[in-house]
Amino acid sequence: MKSCLCSMLTPLVLAALFSFSFAALPHQDFLRCLSLRSDDYSSISKVVFTPTNPSYESVLDASIWNLRFNSTDTPKPLVIVTPTKISHVQATIYCSRKHGLQTRTRSGGHDYEGLSFVAKVPFVIVDLVNFRAVEVDVENRVAWVQSGAILGELYYRIAEKSRALAFPGGIFHTIGVGGHISGGGFGLLFRKYGTAADNVIDAQFIDVEGRILDRKSMGEDLFWAIRGGGGGSFGIVLAWKLCLVPVPATLTEFTVSRTLEQNATELVHRWQSIAHDLPDGMYPNVALRSIKSTQDGTKTVVAIFSSLFLGTIDELLPIMHNQFPELELSRQNCREMSWIESILYETGIQNQPLEILLNRTFRTPLDNPFYKIKSDYVKEPISEAGLKGLFSRLTEEAAASTSIVFFAYGGIMDRIPEDATPFPHRTGNLYKIFYNVGWQEENKVNSQIYLDWARRTYDYMTPFVSKSPREAYINYRDLDIGSNNIGYTSYAQASIWGHKYFKDNFDRLVHVKTTIDPDNFFKHEQSIPTLY
Ligand SMILES: Cc1cc2nc3c(=O)[nH]c(=O)nc-3n(C[C@H](O)[C@H](O)[C@H](O)COP(=O)(O)OP(=O)(O)OC[C@H]3O[C@@H](n4cnc5c(N)ncnc54)[C@H](O)[C@@H]3O)c2cc1C
Ligand SMILES: *[C@@H]1O[C@H](CO)[C@@H](O)[C@H](O)[C@H]1NC(C)=O
Ligand SMILES: *[C@@H]1O[C@H](CO)[C@@H](O)[C@H](O)[C@H]1NC(C)=O
Ligand SMILES: *[C@@H]1O[C@H](CO)[C@@H](O)[C@H](O)[C@H]1NC(C)=O
Repeated sequence: MKSCLCSMLTPLVLAALFSFSFAALPHQDFLRCLSLRSDDYSSISKVVFTPTNPSYESVLDASIWNLRFNSTDTPKPLVIVTPTKISHVQATIYCSRKHGLQTRTRSGGHDYEGLSFVAKVPFVIVDLVNFRAVEVDVENRVAWVQSGAILGELYYRIAEKSRALAFPGGIFHTIGVGGHISGGGFGLLFRKYGTAADNVIDAQFIDVEGRILDRKSMGEDLFWAIRGGGGGSFGIVLAWKLCLVPVPATLTEFTVSRTLEQNATELVHRWQSIAHDLPDGMYPNVALRSIKSTQDGTKTVVAIFSSLFLGTIDELLPIMHNQFPELELSRQNCREMSWIESILYETGIQNQPLEILLNRTFRTPLDNPFYKIKSDYVKEPISEAGLKGLFSRLTEEAAASTSIVFFAYGGIMDRIPEDATPFPHRTGNLYKIFYNVGWQEENKVNSQIYLDWARRTYDYMTPFVSKSPREAYINYRDLDIGSNNIGYTSYAQASIWGHKYFKDNFDRLVHVKTTIDPDNFFKHEQSIPTLY
């Protein structure tokens, strides 16, 4: 599977200093410890923010995407550290341990439950925004990328050097490389090349003792665990070494929309047994949401069938006519583009210059301000009656800003063993369901309506989806499926959600955790517990 050659680049450290100073601050013990531990006091003082610092709010807000976690009663960190040097990371871990503060690591801040920047105990954020160098080696088809880089920066830097290479990660350009790859990471190329984590060949990692480890010095167990076992459990990943993959010069994107009146139910029903067997170089998905009829204002559901294809329109059309004639795909539904253009296209920002990929604060038009995410895996086609029940829920008022997307599995996902990485959702899955329950207004009562809708719909889906365990994707973090009591850790409690995310890989993750972080310093509501 690995087509790239390994080279011996060293990770680089980016120095982009904020120029603020150390004022009179609370939590003096922790802060004094930081200055003592740091090899160079003046450098660390510039990257430490407490609530009295005028920049504290903007540094905190910069990576809060889901405004559910931007309310006045959301717990705030005592201190934010935005390291520019590895020694700053080491000092923060050391001093947090010493003074009983929890550390949360933030790369892109997209955690769906806000776990990278919200905790119910006194805590410190290590925000890796300044660790975002990307070094691309076209000849050897590898790249080193620091965790605080966003996917857009990674894709842009690859495209800058080669339009024939890509990395198989997620789509939204503001997702952080650190959290994304820690949880697996799937995107446009996953049926051809696997998850993002499947394409990691080395890492730079800091453990609870502050040791700087690479693949060789951490050993294969820990290297296995950090590639999909979820962020925030084992230590802090500073950088990943990635294998780059080939893409053709011309790709095709198609979109076909059908409402219920245009036989959407029958087509979605058919899609379930067809999409899984489409070529590896496709990303078949169908997005479902409600729309109002322009004539009488009544609600219906639209099913938007789309895919990227690694090839031209002329190559795609015969495949679709042969395998999915009912969709009646025509040339007018298709457009050709380059790989890097497809990244913009998929998030509705195709009219922007490529440089938009470097903009960490740009929200795409597809982002809801408030959202709750859930996931499911489907192993057998859902009956038409079952689909109708889901569609009728989508036409309820509470689902007005909600979409549900089915992402076809198959391709190489069927051929990678379940225990190759902690990400276990491989063969046997027809598709994954992504429940993107969104809303627009910040009103407590209203938000409960949307959360209730999400939970009721999830309950409704029980008979149609994977069972024992009901599988879920760790990067679509969902605390409804269980969480640790943060004061202590119970293996029994964690094994419920742990098996949903990791199936039988969970026990190996617990074993690695117990070895690398026996006192459970790196923890959050869904971190891997120790055995004891
Ligand atoms: C709009 C949107 C679109 C998305 N699209 C996709 C998609 O196409 N495919 C997909 O697979 N996922 C997708 N996701 C989910 C996304 O992959 C996860 O939310 C991912 O964990 C985000 O990574 P982050 O660095 O931005 O998040 P963060 O919130 O910074 O981190 C997530 C978790 O990882 C931990 N962590 C962060 N950095 C590190 C580090 N350096 N070392 C150790 N632990 C760390 C955090 O503490 C937290 O527990 C999407 C999310 C959003 C909001
Ligand atoms: C978060 O809340 C703060 C304080 O109310 C506000 O200033 C900020 O604009 C909000 N962030 C976003 C992204 O809306
Ligand atoms: C829906 O399906 C019926 C029966 O299969 C067919 O006659 C009709 O033309 C279809 N409608 C559309 C809009 O495709
Ligand atoms: C990034 O996007 C934001 C939000 O649209 C915009 O205000 C800002 O000017 C952009 N930054 C750059 C450097 O283009």
